[in-house]
Amino acid sequence: MSNQALIDALNDDLAAEFQAVVMYTTYSAMVTGPYRPQLVTFMQAEIPDELGHAQFLADKIAALGGVPTKQPLAVPEAETPKEMLERILEAERKAVDNYTKRADQAKEAGQLGLAVQLEDMVVDETSHYEETKKLLEDWH
Ligand SMILES: [Fe+2]
Ligand SMILES: [Fe+2]
Repeated sequence: MSNQALIDALNDDLAAEFQAVVMYTTYSAMVTGPYRPQLVTFMQAEIPDELGHAQFLADKIAALGGVPTKQPLAVPEAETPKEMLERILEAERKAVDNYTKRADQAKEAGQLGLAVQLEDMVVDETSHYEETKKLLEDWH
């Protein structure tokens, strides 16, 4: 993978991290129903993690000679708490897949420090995914 291809791929990841920040911020503002307090706490607790990921990616893209994107991916519409959690589950699943792939690509490019950091982000996103999955179990 060329340096430019790696920069482009990391910029796709950065756009997804910005999406996660916007998603958790707006969903937590909009979520209603009897579980609102728990869901607000749950969603807002993810924001510092995703912001940390975004800052790391932006720093790395600049260090590789690229320009960090300023555009988040569009946040999917969701009306009910269940729909919000399903959209979140899907986004976190994609994040796990993408960082798993990206860590391998970073290793191939000889960027071991980046690969290790990306693997650490796989750990974070896997825990986001699993917690969301547990929340959704037996939800009617
Ligand atoms: Fe993230
Ligand atoms: Fe996440």
